[in-house]
Amino acid sequence: MEPRRLGRTDIEISPIGLGCMQFAGTANYARLMINPIGQETATSVVRAALDGGVTWFDTAEMYGNGRSEQALAAALKECGAVPGQVAVATKWTPYLRTAASITRTIGDRLNHLGGHPVALHQIHMPTGSLSSIPAQLKAMAGLVHAGQVRAVGVSNFSARQLRLAHRALAAEGVTLAANQVRISLLHRNVERDGVLRAARELGVTLIAYSPLEGGVLTGRYHEDPALARSAPPARRFFSRSVLSAQGLERTRPLIEAMRRIADGYGATVSQVALNWLITRYGDTVVAIPGASKPRQATEVAGAMGFALTEAELGRLDELSLP
Ligand SMILES: NC(=O)c1ccc[n+]([C@@H]2O[C@H](COP(=O)([O-])OP(=O)(O)OC[C@H]3O[C@@H](n4cnc5c(N)ncnc54)[C@H](OP(=O)(O)O)[C@@H]3O)[C@@H](O)[C@H]2O)c1
Repeated sequence: MEPRRLGRTDIEISPIGLGCMQFAGTANYARLMINPIGQETATSVVRAALDGGVTWFDTAEMYGNGRSEQALAAALKECGAVPGQVAVATKWTPYLRTAASITRTIGDRLNHLGGHPVALHQIHMPTGSLSSIPAQLKAMAGLVHAGQVRAVGVSNFSARQLRLAHRALAAEGVTLAANQVRISLLHRNVERDGVLRAARELGVTLIAYSPLEGGVLTGRYHEDPALARSAPPARRFFSRSVLSAQGLERTRPLIEAMRRIADGYGATVSQVALNWLITRYGDTVVAIPGASKPRQATEVAGAMGFALTEAELGRLDELSLP
């Protein structure tokens, strides 16, 4: 599958990147979202992703207070990926901080990434900061002008906030590259809340997080509903409407259709879920599945190996409408 341009920048990325929240360790809230893995496994996951054609990685300050950034850098080093060979996206945590902390903390981001440049620096969420959205974007633009990051993105921004961020950044002569939001076959809110339309109008890439709905769209919970009880607590909470017995029954026809389609390509249910995401919305959407095992990373990268037909996309559209 052809690489995509990140927004209107000159940065090229594979349609599937690797989400690295899984590398956050046990330090903070991330342990409620993930089953933590050690450095050796993280390195194997990164190696499998690189081998599968993944050219970029998404991490954040918030994932274990920088632990994920450090684990990613160590893994890339172990895999022999030199700075600049892959694109790294990270995020600033806004909670109870002013925009000045964007400038103050960029050194930590760069140190943690061990020489890998920040291709994309994102504001992790639109709420929580003591400064306005325009003030935050102005500080981000300063990092671009200083040559400390290549591009700027936001995350979890509504259509209104996205337009505001785009305007504020443009006033500083920088283009807004991306908005990272939750999108999957089971979470298609961007189609209704104006975010997809705004992104297309502004030339902003949407980076789909939780694209496998925390593993639900692999079909594993449909095969063994008892597994849901051992999912990390925040996953059980955020995906409660699908992880419940009724939720799994409601979505079973979708998973079964995905399995039939997957069989036709010698693929898996998760590969169909990801292929739908990176095909259905044209070039606008790229996806960052997470993986806690090298086998999973190989599988998610393999989602770039085929293209669903219009009829298959349409069938999945119908079956996944809320
Ligand atoms: N910007 C934001 O606010 C935000 C929020 C959430 C996530 N993110 C980003 O998005 C990335 C992905 O999101 P996510 O981790 O929430 O959800 P996800 O990608 O939907 O789910 C990832 C989980 O699915 C399971 N999985 C993956 N491939 C599999 C396979 N082939 N077979 C079976 N199971 C498989 C694994 O669960 P197990 O580990 O349990 O096996 C893996 O940890 C994160 O790493 C992070 O970078 C961003």
